[in-house]
Amino acid sequence: MTDTDANGTDTDGENTNAENCLQLPAINAVIVGNGAIGTALLETLLDNSRLQHAVILGRQCKPLPDDGRVRFCHLDALKPDSITSAAVEVRELCGRLHLLVNTVGMLHSETQQPEKRLSDVTTESLQHSFAINAGLLASLAQAFGPLLRHAEPAVLASLSARVGSIEDNQLGGWYSYRAAKAAHNMLLRTLSREWRLSHRNVSVVALHPGTVRSPLSSPFISSTYANRVLTPQESAGYLMRLISTLSPDDSGLFYDWRGHTIPW
Ligand SMILES: NC(=O)c1ccc[n+]([C@@H]2O[C@H](COP(=O)([O-])OP(=O)(O)OC[C@H]3O[C@@H](n4cnc5c(N)ncnc54)[C@H](OP(=O)(O)O)[C@@H]3O)[C@@H](O)[C@H]2O)c1
Repeated sequence: MTDTDANGTDTDGENTNAENCLQLPAINAVIVGNGAIGTALLETLLDNSRLQHAVILGRQCKPLPDDGRVRFCHLDALKPDSITSAAVEVRELCGRLHLLVNTVGMLHSETQQPEKRLSDVTTESLQHSFAINAGLLASLAQAFGPLLRHAEPAVLASLSARVGSIEDNQLGGWYSYRAAKAAHNMLLRTLSREWRLSHRNVSVVALHPGTVRSPLSSPFISSTYANRVLTPQESAGYLMRLISTLSPDDSGLFYDWRGHTIPW
C-alpha cells in the first residue's frame, strides 16, 4: 500500500524503524499538560541537544525554563477550540512533530472526589472524568495527527494509569477515574490500529508513570503505602528512556515506567 506524508512525499518502503524519534538530528515535541509529570518531562527533554522546539500546553501558563526552545500554548481539555488553536500554533512553529506526550489527567477536583462506593457515582462525575481522562486523547489525535504523519519516526504517548487496566482491578473503587482510563486505553488501542495504516511512522502507546508524588496523587498516598513512590523527575526519566526505545511495532501497547507491558 502506498502512503504519503504531510508534504505529499511517497513514504512507501521507507524504513521508519531505522532510528527512534529521540535520535533524530532535530526533534520537535509537544507536552500536553503542565502538571508535575508534564513539567518534569519537559525538563528531561531539554537535556537532549537534538531538541529544536518544545511546546508545553496547559490551562494556565506557569513559569517556564529559561530556554529559547520552549514555548507555552493555552489548551483546556474541556474547550475543543483551544485544542485546534494549539495545533495551529504548533504547526506554524514547527511544521512537523516527532513526539507528543499527553499528561493531562484528573482524579479529583474541587467538586469531585474518587468514589469509594457505587452510591458516590454520578453522571456528572463520569462525564467530567471521561472528558479529561479519555476524550482529550481523541481530540489531540485529530488535531495533531497531521503534524505527526511524515517520513521520520514519531511517538504519540498518552499517560494512562494501572488502575485503568480491567484485568488488574482487584481493589474496586475510583469508578470514574478507572472507567475513564479504561476508555482512554480503548481509544488509544483503536487509534493505533487506524494509524498502523495511515500514520505508519508513529508509535502510539499508553504509559503508566508509576505512583508519582503530585497534586493528583498525593492526597491518596498513605504513609503505609508499600510500593515505591517516584518523584516526577524520576518518572519522567524512566518514561523518556522507554520512549527512546519505541518503534511502530510497539504501537497499541500499554507500558509501565519500567518498560513492562500491562494487560488492558
Ligand atoms: N501521579 C501518579 O501517581 C499517577 C499515577 C498513574 C497515572 N497518572 C497519570 O499521569 C498524568 C499526569 O498526572 P500528574 O501526576 O502529573 O498530576 P498533576 O500534577 O495533577 O497533572 C495533571 C495535569 O492535568 C491538567 N488538567 C486537568 N484538567 C485539565 C483540563 N481541563 N485542561 C487541561 N489540563 C488539565 C492539570 O492542569 P492544572 O495544572 O491547570 O490543574 C495538570 O497540569 C495523568 O494523566 C494521571 O492520570 C499519575
